[in-house]
Amino acid sequence: MAIRLGDTAPDFSAETTQGKINFHEWLGDSWGVLFSHPKDFTPVCTTELGYVAKIKPEFDKRNVKVVGLSVDPVDSHNKWEADIAETQGTPVNFPMIGDPERKVSGLYDMIHPNANDTLTVRSVFVIGPDKKVKLSITYPASTGRNFDEILRVIDSLQLTAKHKVATPANWKNGQDVIIGSAVSDEDAKILFPQGWKTVKSYLRILPQPK
Ligand code: BEZ
Repeated sequence: MAIRLGDTAPDFSAETTQGKINFHEWLGDSWGVLFSHPKDFTPVCTTELGYVAKIKPEFDKRNVKVVGLSVDPVDSHNKWEADIAETQGTPVNFPMIGDPERKVSGLYDMIHPNANDTLTVRSVFVIGPDKKVKLSITYPASTGRNFDEILRVIDSLQLTAKHKVATPANWKNGQDVIIGSAVSDEDAKILFPQGWKTVKSYLRILPQPK
């Protein structure tokens, strides 16, 4: 069954390169990113994991735990990690789930048989501290993901969880935001006493709240 936004992220126990984890317990009160890669010792995945390792401090800053997954076993991940450190310049500094029995990939619908009947696609799930799925993206095996975009979405999710705003196209942290359409002008006066610019009655813009 496909996982939809707002669903509770399925819980599981799994072996990882950093020991066994119970997913929900491991997440604790943090946000989480669970992402799959099709196979160990493959070129695109090698660059992805190296890049995520490099920007891990950005996830840490946002209170986000990151975990990777492939259908290869943990001992294979461990051997591959040496190559990633050597070629990408950063050791893998987050756990990678070994899923040879396809338990987790099955739970998260990461195997799309019409694309490939054994390997996972490149899935990304962002999970909130309430364990609900906030974002789900699927990339094809041949396209490396843009992890700066994942950080951008997390910035938007964390901002909009706190304030009744939405973020416009290509928004980046610090730029102007939009007052959510469910907020009346009357309520907006209380929520945003500094005021806003009305472009249309349904398009009200204001500086990003602190
Ligand atoms: C890769 O990571 O390079 C890759 C993996 C599976 C299929 C195609 C490319």
